[in-house]
Amino acid sequence: MTTKDSTITRRAFIAAGGAALAATATPFISLQAAPQPRLRMAIVGTGNRGSLTWGQDVVKGYSDVVEIVGLCDINRKRVEAAKKLIGISAPTFVDFDRMIQETRPDTVMVTTVDGTHYRYIVRGLELGADVMTEKPLCTDEQQCQAILDAQKKSSKRVTVTFNARHAPEAKKVKQLLLEKAIGDVISVDFHEYLDTSHGADYFRRWHRLKENSGTLLVHKASHHFDLANWWLDSKPVEVTAFGDLKFYGRNNSFRNTHCRVCPFKQQCKFYWDVTQNPQYVKLYTECESEDGYLRDGCVWREDINIYDTMSVVVKYENGVYLTYTANTYLPYEGQAISINGRRGRLDYNEVKANGFANNEVRLTRSFGKSEVVNDLEKPRAGGHGGADNSIQDLIFRGPQSSDPLNLRADLRAGALSSLIGIAARHSIERGSQAIKIQDLVKL
Ligand SMILES: NC(=O)c1ccc[n+]([C@@H]2O[C@H](COP(=O)([O-])OP(=O)(O)OC[C@H]3O[C@@H](n4cnc5c(N)ncnc54)[C@H](O)[C@@H]3O)[C@@H](O)[C@H]2O)c1
Repeated sequence: MTTKDSTITRRAFIAAGGAALAATATPFISLQAAPQPRLRMAIVGTGNRGSLTWGQDVVKGYSDVVEIVGLCDINRKRVEAAKKLIGISAPTFVDFDRMIQETRPDTVMVTTVDGTHYRYIVRGLELGADVMTEKPLCTDEQQCQAILDAQKKSSKRVTVTFNARHAPEAKKVKQLLLEKAIGDVISVDFHEYLDTSHGADYFRRWHRLKENSGTLLVHKASHHFDLANWWLDSKPVEVTAFGDLKFYGRNNSFRNTHCRVCPFKQQCKFYWDVTQNPQYVKLYTECESEDGYLRDGCVWREDINIYDTMSVVVKYENGVYLTYTANTYLPYEGQAISINGRRGRLDYNEVKANGFANNEVRLTRSFGKSEVVNDLEKPRAGGHGGADNSIQDLIFRGPQSSDPLNLRADLRAGALSSLIGIAARHSIERGSQAIKIQDLVKL
């Protein structure tokens, strides 16, 4: 095999996730034979996720197969801070086009604020790169259509990095459903519990504005809607929702701009000292002079325009109903998910309370026994209970592993998960009117 051949094979394998090409690869081509060129990856959006998960962690775990060739952010101080945190010598940019033209990456990783993903996805494809993007794919239907149209004109691929699929419990649920352990699914109850720390953090940051996050129905729930879409292997068709801001924002008697300068530090239960985290100081507080972004924004600010209390019903093409709720001010974190089938029920319950934690997948067969499912994959080290490592293994070392659970999430998966949240937001804004997904975009 020539060097040129191996370059094409290796890069195409990584970019195409390996599986597609595995079928066409001739048996005598050995991928482990010679040192292979590494995947050239550029990152746009060098905040927490860009610098740490897709920066530091990739350098630490995947430097043999991935080279970070460029970093870009609109905040020039933050992109320099990220370069130091990651510990690489790649050039930094504030202009995305320039980064792509000068560094010629195979793949662009998009880790910017949600409402800006589409710009870089579309432009990345136009400039001839594969694109990987953090969830959500997009925050409104126009962005979604622009991405779908750009993909149609491009031979490049879009991958959405849904790490939540990689939790051992999520994989086990998928496996049991594929095995028809509870027969055909009739309905799903999915309840998301966010507490006064993690939940509150969304109201401190850029997420608090619809125009940035599309509300938590898109930013946060796109993980959950993707899980439901993936587990059910069906398409959402209609969405109805309620949502309100009942706890944060205007729902308090005092407020300030941000915690560091707040006169209510002593009495506010939500006071949070960003300076206790040295990485946050480097990434955020030392970069404030560039864009005025306050990482420790007040959770009581009156400009907060997202919901903290949400209820959604989704009807699927295969007739399944999903009932989803998310509350963001609870005394503990967790999820309660039940999948109701013709021959039984599958429960996944997780509680992370102060002094108490429980995590259980339970299979109850109708007219039969109820049992805890014990043969789960061992949780791995790393972010999000090891899910970040698992997805990076699949993406960067894909040729060595097959994908029987269909863990890879493509553009369609990204679009459908975002569209449920987008439809839910429209439904809330229109007095809980039912919204049809097909009225939002041409898929
Ligand atoms: N999969 C997960 O578990 C997970 C977890 C956290 C965040 N995320 C996603 O990762 C992305 C980044 O989140 P984060 O927590 O790192 O946020 P962050 O605020 O730490 O970083 C966002 C970065 O984007 C930059 N940015 C904003 N607008 C930009 C633009 N127009 N062009 C270029 N850069 C721009 C900001 O300056 C900042 O550096 C979000 O889309 C978020 O939804 C995913």
